[in-house]
Amino acid sequence: MTSTLAVVGLGYVGLPLAVEAAQSGLQVYGLDVSEAVVYELNEGRSHVDDITDPDVGGAIARGFRATTDPSCLADADVVVICVPTPLDGDLGPNLKAVEDAATTVSDHLVPRQLVVLESTTYPGTTEEVLVPILETSGLVAGQDFYVAYSPERIDPGNTRFRLRNTPKVVGGITPMSTERAVDFYSELVDEVIVSGGVKEAEMTKLLENTYRHINIALMNEMSQFCAELDIDLWDAIRCASTKPFGFSPFFPGPGVGGHCIPIDPNYLSHRVQTRLGYSFRFVELAQEINAGMPAYVVRRIQDLLNDQSLPLRDSRILLLGVTYKADIGDVRESPAADIAKSLLDLGAQVSYVDPLVDSWAVGGAEVKKTAHLKEGLREAHVAVLLQAHSSFDQNEISGSRTWTLDTRGVLSGPMVVRL
Ligand SMILES: NC(=O)c1ccc[n+]([C@@H]2O[C@H](COP(=O)([O-])OP(=O)(O)OC[C@H]3O[C@@H](n4cnc5c(N)ncnc54)[C@H](O)[C@@H]3O)[C@@H](O)[C@H]2O)c1
Repeated sequence: MTSTLAVVGLGYVGLPLAVEAAQSGLQVYGLDVSEAVVYELNEGRSHVDDITDPDVGGAIARGFRATTDPSCLADADVVVICVPTPLDGDLGPNLKAVEDAATTVSDHLVPRQLVVLESTTYPGTTEEVLVPILETSGLVAGQDFYVAYSPERIDPGNTRFRLRNTPKVVGGITPMSTERAVDFYSELVDEVIVSGGVKEAEMTKLLENTYRHINIALMNEMSQFCAELDIDLWDAIRCASTKPFGFSPFFPGPGVGGHCIPIDPNYLSHRVQTRLGYSFRFVELAQEINAGMPAYVVRRIQDLLNDQSLPLRDSRILLLGVTYKADIGDVRESPAADIAKSLLDLGAQVSYVDPLVDSWAVGGAEVKKTAHLKEGLREAHVAVLLQAHSSFDQNEISGSRTWTLDTRGVLSGPMVVRL
């Protein structure tokens, strides 16, 4: 049994893990380089959508402590690394945070400790990047301490599948590493799946997200010619979804956002390109199509204005929902930013309604927030539903007298045009 856990990186992935582990009775330390994150958490305030302040308060009551002091690592049976893995300037992997975290862990590594990497990354990272850094401690991986990879499957905003009831895949660098990782996660989740090896565990996450990326791109490309052929693609998806086998629904939208779908497939294609010298063509095509969606949305807005004999310049465009996903407040990598930036560059007056976002800046400039949906709709020349938050009154939007571009396929009415 694990008695003490240290989570390195207390963001969207690390904090839910820390809270779940505290609820399961483990002594949990949370290590983060951000003093602000540590301060807020120790005050009982959560900065992550799916974790409430009472969740953090409950974890603190069970002994959870956030800290910037890495000396806590030496007390842990298990250390889990959940730091960011963004892209660098040439859209390749940026493993700086993983390397920094590994160096910190290495400085405090103790015999028999299990170190797990959860950050999303290319296959090979655990053995080629993490292990060599940890072994600078003088301890030998697989012999003196144990190492495993377990892909994070957090789905922000998903109230049905949380950490505990989402199966956890683990793969260790040795059988004993795998065994230790299985024992640890079995204390926190209902089902643990053992991969054939550590690279297969790393690949699992990239397979899941590449699959989503490509299928969303397929729908996005189809939505463009369906609009020209006057076919309601959402209705076709609804009908196809009744087939009980061989079809999984994906939906078009204004582009992909967040820090998984637009980023993770790059880790895989970069690996294929640098290791094997050829390209992962499906991913490249999906990138091109999905990245082109914001420009396509702007063109459709221009079409709607054109039908009213209005130029885009000085027209009032209301964006409804600017987060990257419905029912969460996270605007990172949201395609709404590219859409707003293009509209502003073309001289439009842009405002937004989003009950989950208090303030929103695009290209360094604050975008005007409209507090009341009804009023915003009345004043706009065109409204664009970008994110179908469940708190939006869809009848209000569908029934409004403002032309509305629906990029989510959820509205219907005489003034609604689907993407
Ligand atoms: N958010 C998601 O929905 C999601 C889902 C699955 C996988 N992932 C992956 O999980 C990883 C973490 O993502 P996230 O969304 O939790 O990131 P995040 O940005 O929300 O949080 C990361 C935290 O790590 C801290 N940090 C950075 N460098 C550190 C270091 N050297 N030592 C200690 N702390 C450090 C940051 O201050 C931050 O608080 C990424 O690889 C991401 O791709 C994210």
